[in-house]
Amino acid sequence: MAESMRGLKRTHRCGTLSKANVGETVTVMGWIQKTRNTGGLIFADLRDRTGLLQIAFNEEKIGKEGFDKAYKLRSEFVVAVVGEVVEREGGVNKNLATGEIEVTAKELRVLSESETPPFPIEEDSKTKEDIRLKYRYLDLRRPDIQRNLMMRSRVTTITRQFLAEEGFLEIETPMLCKSTPEGARDYLVPSRVHPGNFYALPQSPQLFKQLLMCSGYDRYMQIAKCFRDEDLRADRQPEFTQIDMELSFVDEDDVMDVNERLVAKLFKEILDVDIPLPLPRMSWQEAMDRFGSDKPDLRFGMELKNVTDVVKGCGFGVFTGAIEAGGSVRGINVKGQGAMPRKKIDALVEFAKGYGAKGLAYLCVNEDGTFKSSFAKFMSEDELKALVDAMEGEPGDLLLFAADRDKIVFSVLGALRCELAEQLGMLDKSDYRFLWVTDFPLLEWSDEENRFTAMHHPFTMPKEEDWSMIDSDPGKVRARAYDIVLNGCEVGGGSVRIHQDDIQEKMFEVLGFTKEDAYDRFGFLLNAFKYGVPPHAGLAFGLDRLVMLMAKVDSIRDVIAFPKIKDASDLMSDAPNVVDDKQLSELAISIVEAENE
Ligand code: AMO
Ligand code: AMP
Repeated sequence: MAESMRGLKRTHRCGTLSKANVGETVTVMGWIQKTRNTGGLIFADLRDRTGLLQIAFNEEKIGKEGFDKAYKLRSEFVVAVVGEVVEREGGVNKNLATGEIEVTAKELRVLSESETPPFPIEEDSKTKEDIRLKYRYLDLRRPDIQRNLMMRSRVTTITRQFLAEEGFLEIETPMLCKSTPEGARDYLVPSRVHPGNFYALPQSPQLFKQLLMCSGYDRYMQIAKCFRDEDLRADRQPEFTQIDMELSFVDEDDVMDVNERLVAKLFKEILDVDIPLPLPRMSWQEAMDRFGSDKPDLRFGMELKNVTDVVKGCGFGVFTGAIEAGGSVRGINVKGQGAMPRKKIDALVEFAKGYGAKGLAYLCVNEDGTFKSSFAKFMSEDELKALVDAMEGEPGDLLLFAADRDKIVFSVLGALRCELAEQLGMLDKSDYRFLWVTDFPLLEWSDEENRFTAMHHPFTMPKEEDWSMIDSDPGKVRARAYDIVLNGCEVGGGSVRIHQDDIQEKMFEVLGFTKEDAYDRFGFLLNAFKYGVPPHAGLAFGLDRLVMLMAKVDSIRDVIAFPKIKDASDLMSDAPNVVDDKQLSELAISIVEAENE
């Protein structure tokens, strides 16, 4: 039976009451966490998003009718309680913020009842994620998820406030856009009015924010929904949110400055963590050489070492073969893990193969100075000693080597380094190490498309000093692009944009677009640039990733209210779904059976 709350007004949230309120009469409302019946007394934990509060039902104070109602309370019933705040008689509960007090109920109303929920609403749920996502509205009641979403709200509130004070205007850009494929796959929306035509949902507000700069808005920001039809991972969703911004008459230092102050403010105000400024900067090349990754995790060492020169003439064909083919041999020293069992090492070899390695060579330096190794037999003693010295190997160390093209060596050792740190418990989620990665290559060769593609996007400004190589050695040209990286995760990225026609035209040429192609896709931007365009630059944070790291969780699903699973479907609402024939015919769409590939 559901009662009305007429005549009652909530005076406090559960978790905000303390000893300071003793003696006050309060009205609280929320969900019943659990009840305990101790004969003459009934206790209930009442929950809202601020926490739990103990309510005591005593027949003398609430009367027979109220007491009978309290007797029937079950988990997740929604109730209103009027009562007096008193100090706890039965001793203090140190695990509860409100553990020193309780509310002695004078009135109880059951605002709605609840069926038994499919899983208990509790912190650190052991329930499988697919069940939790099917009943997301219940999962969202759990205190840890509530804390994450409250933190997310604080991040956006502080961001808006900070950027407004820095002179940014919040401007919305369209969700129904023109499809300009370059980057991830677009989500398409059919047009009813223009049969056979489609809008695309924005992958980011990139072109619009550049247009806003052309129009003189100077400093723009937006908390923007973005859509990308790509393979999903723990840190990727098909729709996600950016803290997006663009600035005119600035260079990269200005963009980095305002953004480091923003993250420092967020971490101080929300986590009370001091982020030392300025943030360190590292070139892309250095990040690859030292960490095998363009998003290095600086919480631990285990840096890559290039031993190509050391093993050049050695007797191990795997090493010399890779070098002769133009590749390199690099290794990592896993300190103190020389006694790792063979089975575990074999698992690392399999892990490396998952990143494209043909194998992984290992060498354990035994305590007595001898070696246990997959390749020692192919090398002379002197060659081995030189290799171990180059790796700063000491007794008890495990040395792992990859030999291949640089790209593969980096991807294998970069991933292995993080995997080992995880396995060895070296990753502290409260240790926050930011850095900027700069000087990315402008272009990336795509074997699939047999052409260069833009590493960031086609509007990124090349470095002036490299521009002369654009025809002779385009792969060597660096970009004025920067990523902000936190604990091995790319939390944001941006660049200085091209604002000169000649450079932009050349960029399109290198990317393999004809002038017609370029105008067909990006004509509105290129035309706008003809009417006076300021130099401009910008950046976008992945809000979900930033909050994930701040909340110390492993998946962005835990900081998004209604996330999708790996196959991009929503287990709760069953999106995407089949639509009516009528809807399809209005859109002039007919469905053909997908051909088996
Ligand atoms: P970029 O593509 O690097 O840049 O995106 C910016 C940031 O958005 C986050 N991100 C994602 N988060 C969750 N799920 C995804 N599928 C996903 N894809 C990206 C990342 C990334 O660093 N317009 C440019 C920015 C600019 O140049 O100003 C852009 O979109 O944290
Ligand atoms: P093989 O001669 O192929 O039996 O390999 C000898 C050792 O070298 C094994 O431990 C392999 O895992 C390792 N190995 C093979 N290919 C590579 C490679 N490209 N880089 C590093 N180690 C490799």
